[in-house]
Amino acid sequence: MRTASRERGRVGESLCAPAAAMGTVVPSALAVAVALALPSVALENGLARTPPMGWLAWERFRCNVDCRADPQNCISERLFFEMADRLAEDGWRELGYQYINIDDCWSAKQRDAMGRLVPDPERFPSGIKALADYVHAKGLKLGIYGDLGKYTCGGYPGTTLDYVKQDAQTFAEWGVDMLKLDGCYSSEEQQAKGYPEMARALNATGRPIVYSCSWPAYQGGLPPKVNYTILAENCNLWRNYDDIQDSWDSVLSILDWFFTNQDVLQPAAGPGHWNDPDMLIIGNFGLSYEQSRSQMALWTVMAAPLLMSTDLRSISPSAKEILQNRLMIQINQDPLGIQGRRIVKEKSHIEVFLRPLSQAASALVFFSRRTDMPFRYTTSLAKLHFPEDAVYEVQDVYSRKIISGLKAGDNFSVVINPSGVVMWHLRPTTLPVQPWHVVRQQVHSEGLRPVLL
Ligand code: GLA
Repeated sequence: MRTASRERGRVGESLCAPAAAMGTVVPSALAVAVALALPSVALENGLARTPPMGWLAWERFRCNVDCRADPQNCISERLFFEMADRLAEDGWRELGYQYINIDDCWSAKQRDAMGRLVPDPERFPSGIKALADYVHAKGLKLGIYGDLGKYTCGGYPGTTLDYVKQDAQTFAEWGVDMLKLDGCYSSEEQQAKGYPEMARALNATGRPIVYSCSWPAYQGGLPPKVNYTILAENCNLWRNYDDIQDSWDSVLSILDWFFTNQDVLQPAAGPGHWNDPDMLIIGNFGLSYEQSRSQMALWTVMAAPLLMSTDLRSISPSAKEILQNRLMIQINQDPLGIQGRRIVKEKSHIEVFLRPLSQAASALVFFSRRTDMPFRYTTSLAKLHFPEDAVYEVQDVYSRKIISGLKAGDNFSVVINPSGVVMWHLRPTTLPVQPWHVVRQQVHSEGLRPVLL
């Protein structure tokens, strides 16, 4: 189960054709050689091989515990039963939205006489085990929230070091499938000890529990304070940065931080271990239609977990359509699990992002930060560092339109709305020959095989 083992990195796979386009940022053959030489180490509990998908209460429902005044929206079992019904009945589960995750403010203010965490008896009268059973019967999984510290961020009982084992055991006994472990009210030293200790305690329960750590977010998210190798050895996903709020400003500040620091963050992600830029706020109040499409596209390019925080009982058809876009989800869930990068930042306030996908496919996002009118952006795949001789079949992820036979050298234009995106999925229809394809085959099969991209 949760044994941290050394595995050979998936570096070979990351060197498929589109990765060459990342050369605008890391251009050298040296980078390739270094990547091939270093084995990567990762938490290997077999979980979260693709970014987790589901629903998380916090951004939309917060710590609303006033069930008398607001029975429909307060943090209570009713909210989770109802969201589980929606996930199961409205097409979400089939698309991969599997987890239904409780956040802060679920517990009673005191542990019980045995020192165990207990749910608030008025708001969760059936108990968490019953909720887990209900969720499992619907083909879904249940997530819960804890905090490594004296209190949770909302002031409920936290998991100090002496409670780590007991709380892991309690969660496992309840049938919990994911734990978000927050970091309010703890020191740097306690976190350095406690986060790995919880990884071991979860492993020791024998129950597969996806482990989401907020650890780096409490340490500034960057080296030298944050060690992404240690994180990947201990956690399946981690919050790197600030909480998302229901506004476009908040989405932009998260984007800026993640892409400014992409040289550190991008290599840290992979199957079983993901950066988490926080929840999707699509369907709420702060984003326009274009901005909603942008959040979805850019989170997908980041290989981010897709954890919606919105009211699925009343979501609009247009928000639902964005969140249920099949090709988008297929890209987000690509089995190679390579996080994308920003490859172009134009003076015109257009940015281009690229995510390499399996079978030499890739996703491109053209994003406009302009505030005037739809902008016609002209470029070519060659300018975006795609291999010169390649020919592609392109599908627009939102409009579904197909462009066949696009050559790398062809100029093309996309019209991008203010604060919106155009997103493409590209499949090569010819096989360009590049020296590093041979290298890749040598690494994986210890001998040359025909090169299959
Ligand atoms: C922190 C976390 C949020 C949420 C709240 C709950 O701020 O980053 O995601 O869990 O605590 O209090």
